[in-house]
Amino acid sequence: MAIERTLSIIKPDGVEKNVIGKIIAQFQESGLNPVGMRMVHLSQQEAEGFYAVHKERPFFGELVEFMTRGPVVVMVLEGEDAVAKNREVMGATNPDEADEGTIRALYATDIGENTVHGSDSPENAEKEIRYFFSDVQYFPGN
Ligand code: CMP
Repeated sequence: MAIERTLSIIKPDGVEKNVIGKIIAQFQESGLNPVGMRMVHLSQQEAEGFYAVHKERPFFGELVEFMTRGPVVVMVLEGEDAVAKNREVMGATNPDEADEGTIRALYATDIGENTVHGSDSPENAEKEIRYFFSDVQYFPGN
């Protein structure tokens, strides 16, 4: 297994529910440690840019509105198989289908307000980390 990095976002509902600390503790207990972290209130343009891949989806407007509702915590998580491990710890996108004890089963409201985002592949993890964090710090020499 390889040490990887992945992008995690604690979404506005997670911040509003005052569970930032619990979520980060759950990541760390699973071997995912933050190596970069910042709290930011996304602009419409920043949220649209991040989710550009979904722009033709019927829920795109709702998604952007939700993600700009309040501050989020963006993190680079590092650990063994971080991309897959993060998705396991988050649980399924729809909290009704998420395994017991996963972050979404514990805290999410519904498929839209699902508390956390995680990169879905190592390639997207690199793109998403670059979107929020500086190349100088995370990809020195590139
Ligand atoms: P995320 O992993 O952040 O990536 C895209 C997001 O779109 C996803 O989590 C969900 O929050 C959201 N999403 C996916 N399907 C729907 C849907 N049917 N209705 C509303 N939001 C959705």
